[in-house]
Amino acid sequence: MVDTQAGRFNEEYWDFFSKWIAPALVPNAKALDMGTGPGGWLTMMNARYPEVAVCGVELVPVMLETARLTGAEIGAKVIAADLSSEEWSTSIDETFEVGHCSMVLHELPNPFSLLKNAAKLIRPGGRLFIFDWCRHSFADYLARKDEEPPLDEDTFQHFSEHARFSPDDVTLLAERAGFREIGRHQRDVAHVMLAYQRKGG
Ligand SMILES: C[S@@+](CC[C@H](N)C(=O)[O-])C[C@H]1O[C@@H](n2cnc3c(N)ncnc32)[C@H](O)[C@@H]1O
Repeated sequence: MVDTQAGRFNEEYWDFFSKWIAPALVPNAKALDMGTGPGGWLTMMNARYPEVAVCGVELVPVMLETARLTGAEIGAKVIAADLSSEEWSTSIDETFEVGHCSMVLHELPNPFSLLKNAAKLIRPGGRLFIFDWCRHSFADYLARKDEEPPLDEDTFQHFSEHARFSPDDVTLLAERAGFREIGRHQRDVAHVMLAYQRKGG
C-alpha cells in the first residue's frame, strides 16, 4: 500500500481534490480519512494543507499501529473503528468539513454504514471524496495485469471485490446517505474519483 501510494495520490488526484474538495477547507477546517491504512494520506494532507487538522479511522491492528506513529509525527488523531458497523460515528465527538475514503468502500461488508455515518460527521455543505475501484469487465481486469493470473478462486475473488460497484452504484448509496454528487472523474477503466457535497448546506 505504501509502495503504490505515490501513483495513487498523483497530480491527477490532487487536481481533482483542488477542484472539488478543497473549496470546503475553510479556516480551522478538519478532514477525516476513513480507512487510512498506514496513514499516508494524513502526511500528504499535512504537507499540502498544514492548517487543516487531519484525523484517520482504521480497524486493522497493524495498520492502526503504523497510522498512529505517522499521526504522532504530524499531530493527527487516529481512531479505531469498524467502518462497516452500524454506529461507528458515535466514537467520534467532532464534525468535519471534509471526508475522504480511498480504496476502502469495495472492501466493506456494508458500505452504506460508512456513508451513513460519514453524513453524520461531515457538516452540511462539507465535501466527501470517494476514490475506489469500480465495475469493469473481466477482459479489462485481465488486460490490466502484467501477466495473466491463473483462473482460480483467488482471481475470481479479487475480481468480484475490485469490480464490485459502478460509479452510479456509489452515488445511489451516497445520495441515500445524504450527499449529492458534484464531481466525477474516471481515472482509468477500473478506478473512479467521486466528489460529493453533504446536503443541507
Ligand atoms: C486498500 S487499503 C487503502 C488505505 C488508504 N486509504 C490508501 O488509499 O492508501 C484499505 C484500508 O481499509 C481498511 N479497512 C478495511 N475494512 C475496514 C473496516 N471495516 N473498518 C475500518 N477500516 C477498514 C484496511 O485495514 C486498509 O487499511
